[in-house]
Amino acid sequence: MTLALELRDLATEIAREAGELAHRRRREGVHLAATKTTLADIVTDADREVEALIRARIAEVRPDDGFLGEESEADVGVSGITWVVDPIDGTVNYAYGMPAYNVSIAAVRGTPDPQSWEALAGVVHAPALGEIFTAAQGHGAWSGETRLAVTTDTPAGALLATGFGYDPSTHDGDLATVRRVMPMARDLRRSGSAALDLAYVAAGRLDGYYERGLKPWDFAAGALLVEEAGGLVSRLEVDSSRPMLIAGGRAVHARLHGILSEKR
Ligand code: IPD
Repeated sequence: MTLALELRDLATEIAREAGELAHRRRREGVHLAATKTTLADIVTDADREVEALIRARIAEVRPDDGFLGEESEADVGVSGITWVVDPIDGTVNYAYGMPAYNVSIAAVRGTPDPQSWEALAGVVHAPALGEIFTAAQGHGAWSGETRLAVTTDTPAGALLATGFGYDPSTHDGDLATVRRVMPMARDLRRSGSAALDLAYVAAGRLDGYYERGLKPWDFAAGALLVEEAGGLVSRLEVDSSRPMLIAGGRAVHARLHGILSEKR
């Protein structure tokens, strides 16, 4: 078995256990709190617990690997492999009881810098939706027995998805970007989970996706799903503090890339 397949299988097993824990904690009562601070604290507790589980499970099997997660300190490791983990992507959905949240786990070769790493394995598991998307470099992207493939033809316009950062000062710019892409769109979705948006591009449920300012753990696993499903993923440094991630089938990716790289 190749290293990529081994890492994918390990990521899948751990994502299942982590997804069960997140789902159980959600059922046990991550209730919507009265204020945002309290709400954020509750979510952070669940996020941290799930990340700690994932980190411990990886360390049991691969103690020399590095780790880059949303909720704990990074560790570079010594094996050259780094795990890039979002324990609960779609945190706000999770807090509100919406099912579009997921555990996202990737294993990459190289440093934890998306510009220089090579993704080997990626898993996006949405426990409340009962879905698990997996990919290993060179072995395709899968949902169970179904091999995933991006869309190639969008005669009625592309079904796109995007997301907005949490910082209100960026909303005007993001909304202006929506106005620019709408002429190529059949419609636009905003699911609240970047990893799931990417998994849906891989599965052909969306034609394309773009978002500014994502963190490595938001897209590490999802980007490999798209690539292994025959799509393209690129990062545009329009604004260096908030690079733009673009994903889609070849034609949709090219159109989005053209529109989003125009100087404004
Ligand atoms: C967020 C989600 C959301 C995206 C944000 C991300 P989180 O991740 O993926 O869809 O719009 O940019 O930060 O905070 O839920 O892990």
